[in-house]
Amino acid sequence: MSFKQIGVVGLGIMGAGIVEVFARAGYAVTGVAESGPAVTAGQSNLAKSLGRAVTKEKLTQDESDEITARVIFGEDFSLLANCDLVIEAAPEILSLKTQIFRQLDAVVKPAGILATNTSSLSVTDIAHATNRPAQVVGMHFFNPAPVQKFVEVISTAKSDPKVVAQIAELGTSLGKHLAQISDQPGFIVNKLLLRYLNHAVQILDSGQGTKEQIDAAMRELSNYPMGPCELLDLIGIDTCVEILKTIHADTGLEIDKPAVGMVELVAAGHKGRKSGAGFYDYSQSAQIPTDSNESVKKQIHNDLLIAYLGDCIAMEATGYAAKSDIDSGMRLGCGLPQGPFEVIDSMGIESVRAAQAELAQRSGVTDYQPLAF
Ligand SMILES: NC(=O)c1ccc[n+]([C@@H]2O[C@H](COP(=O)([O-])OP(=O)(O)OC[C@H]3O[C@@H](n4cnc5c(N)ncnc54)[C@H](O)[C@@H]3O)[C@@H](O)[C@H]2O)c1
Repeated sequence: MSFKQIGVVGLGIMGAGIVEVFARAGYAVTGVAESGPAVTAGQSNLAKSLGRAVTKEKLTQDESDEITARVIFGEDFSLLANCDLVIEAAPEILSLKTQIFRQLDAVVKPAGILATNTSSLSVTDIAHATNRPAQVVGMHFFNPAPVQKFVEVISTAKSDPKVVAQIAELGTSLGKHLAQISDQPGFIVNKLLLRYLNHAVQILDSGQGTKEQIDAAMRELSNYPMGPCELLDLIGIDTCVEILKTIHADTGLEIDKPAVGMVELVAAGHKGRKSGAGFYDYSQSAQIPTDSNESVKKQIHNDLLIAYLGDCIAMEATGYAAKSDIDSGMRLGCGLPQGPFEVIDSMGIESVRAAQAELAQRSGVTDYQPLAF
């Protein structure tokens, strides 16, 4: 199949970004959301992102205008009828996604491929809401979609290998590095990332550090572009809670249960940047968190890093994903300066395993024990 017309459903943080990715690459794009205000918000998300690129002189005004002219927006799903591929980027709620896929199945031409940008939900369950499960895959972009150069392509037992190959080829043509993975909660990157983010909020909830200390620890001692609380605000805390619920339902591990601090913020409507406040307040210009308590930061950094590296070792050792995909995913999907296995190699795996054992003993959390080989 040659892709010409691309549809995107849901125009929030990810949907608007995915619209931009395809429009920049020259495709005709149709963006659909459930209501007039949601469509207007999506249009404004795209305009703001292109405006930033023009200000930074990464695009000319003419290029920005051409990109905008390739996109049409609306509320009516029938606008998607002629799309070769429709990517769904609606909230991380299975019942909502299955309802959307039933609607898409009814309106999109029979040859059209349907993809979900879900972070954790079962692509198999979503595919089974349609009469074309062979043409349903996961195409998981990272935030911000125009910037992050990684895409996970998720196939189910029913996905047609030809369709999966076409989607992989399309992703590569967009300049993305791809990892192909079967349908497992959290796939590669979010299974690691969300446990790390949850751990950070568990540390916050337990009073071992402030959000400023936690964020400064990872920024300053590992050169991460953002601390975990800032990243939760960027992703959307509501989305992160939903992803963790899915992962927790799968693993049953206490460390995957959404931390109380996150659940409470969502209940209060503080979903992160998109709602104006989350861990931080975005009504004023954002502050870069700093803190001078070096010993607290060092401890927090050690605990977050060691637990995360231990998860990466276990993910590879159990055959879930290859080292190269884990490293690329964390570098190119999350913008981390190094892949975890590069860090493990520089520390020495035995010293990571010893630090895991120390963390498990000190915290009393047996889930942090190193995997027995
Ligand atoms: N936020 C991230 O960093 C991130 C990264 C990768 C993947 N994802 C995944 O992408 C998906 C969307 O996340 P988001 O962060 O963009 O969410 P969001 O809350 O920013 O946006 C959701 C969009 O879906 C629209 N919507 C709601 N109900 C709809 C319906 N019935 N029909 C059509 N549109 C509807 C909303 O109006 C909004 O435009 C989720 O599955 C999420 O897990 C998110």
